[in-house]
Amino acid sequence: MGLINIRAKPDAYLRNISNLLRDIAGAYLLKDWKQIEKENVETSNDIMLPEILRIQAEGFKYERQGEITKHSKKFREIFYVIKNQDKIVGYCAYYLKPMLSFKGLKKKSVIFSIAIDKEFRHKGFGRKLLEESIKEMKVNNVSAISLYVNINNTPAVKLYEKSGFLVVKEVENVCGKKERCYKMEFKLF
Ligand SMILES: CC(C)(COP(=O)(O)OP(=O)(O)OC[C@H]1O[C@@H](n2cnc3c(N)ncnc32)[C@H](O)[C@@H]1OP(=O)(O)O)[C@@H](O)C(=O)NCCC(=O)NCCS
Repeated sequence: MGLINIRAKPDAYLRNISNLLRDIAGAYLLKDWKQIEKENVETSNDIMLPEILRIQAEGFKYERQGEITKHSKKFREIFYVIKNQDKIVGYCAYYLKPMLSFKGLKKKSVIFSIAIDKEFRHKGFGRKLLEESIKEMKVNNVSAISLYVNINNTPAVKLYEKSGFLVVKEVENVCGKKERCYKMEFKLF
């Protein structure tokens, strides 16, 4: 039965293995993570989850409730939320991955998902959320942050550019079938 599934969906099977390895490496790199004082930004908890899921569903074509829930529990320290007068108005979730360089093992992070409540967009919350979380990435010796963004998602591309990210390359089929997106990166060290 398992073998039949592997033959029928080799891509999905490989993706699951690669996600599993990514999660194991990510959890290892998260050991001894230092949290700093952040302005209006904190890490997620179970009580915040319904609001985070609502903001995710509102912000994207595809709901990723299962993935977001799993991620918020496993990588809570790097799953940030931003508040406005005690109301959650957005979130930004990262994962960590190891990178081998001639200087040794480096820590990199990837933005897994970011969204701001529709009512609060274009008011600087996305920028603030990135700014505060990036400060914490620096303290924890993360050498670079990367992400993929659809080339037609102007608000997001502008947000990343204004926050210090640069386009590294343009790729297809990463943000969705036949969709073109930019890989963007912010080098911290
Ligand atoms: C992308 C997103 C997170 C931006 O958050 P935000 O809080 O609205 O962004 P900010 O207000 O901090 O804006 C930062 C910069 O982005 C740009 N920007 C934001 N919204 C914009 C819009 N609607 N049109 C053009 N530029 C926009 C501006 O350049 C702005 O800088 P400025 O204020 O100096 O002009 C938000 O639009 C969102 O949640 N979108 C849906 C989910 C999504 O697409 N996530 C990204 C996936 S890769």
